[in-house]
Amino acid sequence: MTKSSDISASSLATRPFAKRVGEIEPFRVVEVLTRAKALEAKGHDIIHLEVGEPDFTTAEPIIAAGQLALANGETYYSQAAGIPELRVAISNHYKTEYGVDVAPARIMVTPGASGALLLIAALLVDAGDGMLLADPGYPCNRHFLRLVEGEGQLVPVGPEHRYQLNAKVAAEYWQDNTIGAMVASPANPTGEILTRQELSDLYDLCVKNKGHLVVDEIYHGLTYGKAAVSILEITDQAFVINSFSKYFGMTGWRLGWLVAPENAVVEMEKLAQNLFISMSTMGQHAALAAFTPETKKIFDERRDEFAKRRDYLLPELRRLGFDIPHQPAGALYLYAGISKFSNDSQQFCMDMLEKHGVAITPGLDFGRNQSNSHVRFAYTTSIERLQEAVRRMEKVLGGKD
Ligand SMILES: Cc1ncc(COP(=O)(O)O)c(C=O)c1O
Repeated sequence: MTKSSDISASSLATRPFAKRVGEIEPFRVVEVLTRAKALEAKGHDIIHLEVGEPDFTTAEPIIAAGQLALANGETYYSQAAGIPELRVAISNHYKTEYGVDVAPARIMVTPGASGALLLIAALLVDAGDGMLLADPGYPCNRHFLRLVEGEGQLVPVGPEHRYQLNAKVAAEYWQDNTIGAMVASPANPTGEILTRQELSDLYDLCVKNKGHLVVDEIYHGLTYGKAAVSILEITDQAFVINSFSKYFGMTGWRLGWLVAPENAVVEMEKLAQNLFISMSTMGQHAALAAFTPETKKIFDERRDEFAKRRDYLLPELRRLGFDIPHQPAGALYLYAGISKFSNDSQQFCMDMLEKHGVAITPGLDFGRNQSNSHVRFAYTTSIERLQEAVRRMEKVLGGKD
């Protein structure tokens, strides 16, 4: 069998690329988006339910702060850990929203949550080490681990676990080379959250096994009911990932942050100096405007709009025959079983896109656990467009009633 690295080698008539490249899978959602854009360029009307990106543009006060930063000449490198004012603002955010004291020194601004994930992988993982990850889960995590010669140890979780990696399941899958667990709450693609007790049990398991706990809190703020608990309310010894991309609506600015235990700060900063030098300086000045009452009001109105969309789409998808056992508590997604229609999620999504102009993401993107019988809907478009998507799908799939 020809390996993908061999194909690259023969086409370039040079040395093969590193083996890891052949083992890192494409991020299929981006491929769906590319195809959707190509169809749009040819004049097709496409409804975008594929990408996990708020459809609202960045809130006006943040844009104005960004423009001011540019006018003020904030165009140079900043400190590798981020501008001090922003680290203080994030620290205040933990105090106000969670009642937790987090010293600004433990907060590092990063190029998106993606940059934080890369830093954490580089800090924690030696060659051959494994980290437990929920399957389905955010696909890039296992690829970040592969990049540093570690492995994502995928733990199948289903409706019986609310699609989350809890301590009981994690204990069953913990292996000799496991160095910790990485969870997201609310999660992508399922929108499920971990309760305080579940987070606390997971942390205890990690301590018992001398492992690390990494919690991706990127969808905090986007919960439709009770707010999600931060692991920082339970311990200051876990690693936390967060971002300005989702609740704060700043995907294209590429800004996130991580919170590390105190003993990791010096090493994290050293890695950040080497990997990134600095984040976007003007972006960081813009992000300062994300923490005012005025902008919070805008974010919360948008969150309420997402809740309305979820409340519209969930029963409609169930009516069409998609299997969605729980009402997800947060994030921007509905993870839906398609076994009534197909056992090939890639083909199902391609047909939906090419023939009906509805762009959704194949479950295959999120792991191996029944991924061919699931798809992900991102409710990142208006209710009118969601209604149109439902009409189009109903024509092909019919309804249960
Ligand atoms: C769970 C999760 N973590 C991290 C990321 C990366 O986000 P960003 O790099 O835009 O902050 C995403 C993006 O969708 C995500 O869903």
